[in-house]
Amino acid sequence: MTIATADASVDTSANLATESSTRSLQDFEIRPLGAALGAEVIGVDLGRPLSHGDFQRIHQAHLDHHVLVFRDQRITPAQQIAFSRRFGPLQIHVLNQFQLPGHPEVLIVSNVIENGKPIGLGDAGHFWHSDLSYKETPSLGSLLHARELPAEGGDTLFANMHTAWESLPEALQRKVADLTAEHTYLARYAELQARSPWRPNLTPEQIAQVKPVVHPVVRTHPETGRRALFVSEHFTTRIVGLPDAESRAILDELFAHSVKPEHVYRHQWREHDLVFWDNRSLLHLAAGTPDQLRRVMYRTTIEGDQPF
Ligand code: SIN
Repeated sequence: MTIATADASVDTSANLATESSTRSLQDFEIRPLGAALGAEVIGVDLGRPLSHGDFQRIHQAHLDHHVLVFRDQRITPAQQIAFSRRFGPLQIHVLNQFQLPGHPEVLIVSNVIENGKPIGLGDAGHFWHSDLSYKETPSLGSLLHARELPAEGGDTLFANMHTAWESLPEALQRKVADLTAEHTYLARYAELQARSPWRPNLTPEQIAQVKPVVHPVVRTHPETGRRALFVSEHFTTRIVGLPDAESRAILDELFAHSVKPEHVYRHQWREHDLVFWDNRSLLHLAAGTPDQLRRVMYRTTIEGDQPF
């Protein structure tokens, strides 16, 4: 059954209607990228129904490869939302200025300025981070759909925090294994605000939504049981219980180790790519787009659970 991509209400219900079917409705291939992580999913149309069996294959591939690249997805925002929701409830970003009108679950990530106003968050991903690690329940995963791509630049890099943890020198593993660290949305907000038009002053209600939280430095993936480093240069401010200088030195060492080339996959976007990554396993970074070129992406963010 082909679903018209222009009709949001039809695609949402059709997607849900087939959830219980185990018969494969789509013939697709999962092809590892041959990098530190990641796989391409070839031949699936996320705007069409997926059976339970098809969904299970995709779910397992996501756990195995941490980043899935779905090529050539000519889907509507409602279809992106419907597919994302099959993994869990969606999180609404604190910067509600950049919600897609009519679809608060979609954060516009864009460097485009129209009539003197940014249409989206242009510096999302400027520092390495895991989405929403500053919340009590950080994100399970994020889906980013390419709507308009620049002729050059605009890549996204992903770092495998499982291999980062596993390859850490033993003495450092022992030192950090049971530590916790603070994550704060506001950690580098003023720094970003000073250099770009994309960081509005936050209202008291927005500030109340992003109180600092504490998470383990090393988390266990809730679905695979595999351990991963869980600190980032964007949101992690300090290791709890350590003197400032020692905390800073350890965090700097962990950040530098995490993003060594052997842990990193660099995604060069193609038209209509939809990339789905696991925030429990990875950090990511937006490499940046030349100012004169337009880049427009739609992001949905799935809620995860409290790290342990
Ligand atoms: C993000 O950090 O979610 C945005 C990544 C990107 O724009 O490449």
